[in-house]
Amino acid sequence: MPINIRLTAIPAPAGVPLAAHLAAVSAGADDDADIVVAVQDAETAGLDPYLGSPAADVLAACDATGKAGEVTPVAMRAGDKARRLLFVGLGDESIADMRKAGAALGGRAAPERGMLAAAVLGQPAAAVRAFAEGLLLGSYRFSLASQAASHGPSEVRLLVTEGDEQAAEAVSAARTVAGAVGLARDLANMPSGRKTPAWLAGEAARTAAASGLTVRVREPAELAAEGFGGILAVGAGSVQPPCLIELGYHPPGARTHAVLVGKGITFDSGGLSLKPNEGMQAMKTDMAGGAAVIAAMSALAGLGAAVRVTGLVATAENMPSGSAMRPGDVITHFGGRTTEVLNTDAEGRLVLADALAYADTVLEPDVMVDVATLTGAARVALGGALGALYASDDGLASALLTAAAEAGEPLWRMPLVDDYSDALDSPVADLANVPHSSRPRAGSIEAALFLREFTGGRPWAHLDIAGAARSSSDGGDVKGATGFGTRLLLRWLGELGAR
Ligand code: BES
Ligand code: MN
Ligand code: ZN
Repeated sequence: MPINIRLTAIPAPAGVPLAAHLAAVSAGADDDADIVVAVQDAETAGLDPYLGSPAADVLAACDATGKAGEVTPVAMRAGDKARRLLFVGLGDESIADMRKAGAALGGRAAPERGMLAAAVLGQPAAAVRAFAEGLLLGSYRFSLASQAASHGPSEVRLLVTEGDEQAAEAVSAARTVAGAVGLARDLANMPSGRKTPAWLAGEAARTAAASGLTVRVREPAELAAEGFGGILAVGAGSVQPPCLIELGYHPPGARTHAVLVGKGITFDSGGLSLKPNEGMQAMKTDMAGGAAVIAAMSALAGLGAAVRVTGLVATAENMPSGSAMRPGDVITHFGGRTTEVLNTDAEGRLVLADALAYADTVLEPDVMVDVATLTGAARVALGGALGALYASDDGLASALLTAAAEAGEPLWRMPLVDDYSDALDSPVADLANVPHSSRPRAGSIEAALFLREFTGGRPWAHLDIAGAARSSSDGGDVKGATGFGTRLLLRWLGELGAR
């Protein structure tokens, strides 16, 4: 479900009391519209005359602590109307806390309907952006219920200091980015019964048309002619044919070419190496990396990114059947390297290998980044709060770590341990997709080492988002797909173009 809050930035001239502004911008709205004040220090907000008592006393009487996302409703006089005023705690006013505060307003603490007039005056642009992104993303819901319940505000008028161009731009960037994250979540939340590889390719084509991207979808016949044996093998067990989606963004004057590669397994049953039922329940989101790639591509033009970007999504359904790949099969990837498939559940690396080899040898980019829900091991190591980052290049690693931290999608760098490479030796092929031996395993590292074989020594990073792609609680965030990766990729690409 697309994010449906209408968010606008309203310039607030200096020298007018905040409450008067808020009353003015909420004038004409429904009587049930709420007014929000996102202030840490209530005493400086000039609200006292509208509250009847000093704001600090009102908040103290309501036991407000000011922690991030805490919402305290009080009554306020606005013109001749009584309105509900929501104080929002900003915590320590860090970017993370601003995001939390915004999310609270868009999410569970939000009024049932109507308009919010909200003030985030005197905050730096980055804080305004985090607040606005949090607000929009906190309002996200996915439902296929026959009767969709309405929730949250439908319109938010955000007061920003008049003349503060950066704050106004921050609100507009937040809208674009939140729209992209909403798309990533929608794609990943869609049940696999509807989300076939062809459906995903259709959504990518629709997105391309709407955001000025080129699109090419390779169907099985073309995949076979060009030698994409990994994608074909993984898709061989399903009645739904696999495909390779290629999206292009090429702004004039771009000096750098980045390739994004996303894992697009629309359902991962494990194949003949079948998963137990509990392990399968979340596997409709096994294309979350691909969703993040499509979503990031969709926002590049809107954000004016000055870098050429190609997005590849290798998409297939991993199913067991009489036509499925078997343990022991040897497959030939794009470019000719062979892999012995010992476990059909290690399928993500097989489709990614094709796409990386194609990017390396045909697209010849300056840098490539793949995003994948690749291993349960990464989720065990880092949980849901962080993505695992592997990189062949320290400069790339640090640029991604910085972008990730700023975007509120943190990464943790993991080592590419060369000593573990021989775990992937095969007696019959160039590589095995999982180790033959059962010595102590480093599942996420081994998967990364496998992928590195297909990168041709180019600057490359791999994001294993098996934990972060999906949230099982809605504490502060949403339940289900998170869209993880979209925001950090957009930050990173924005910086890459600005260099
Ligand atoms: N899609 C899974 C990884 C995964 C697991 C993502 C849990 C999110 C939550 C992947 O295809 C997979 O099955 N990996 C195996 C690899 C193993 C067979 C070497 C795994 O992690 O168990
Ligand atoms: Mn699998
Ligand atoms: Zn998988």
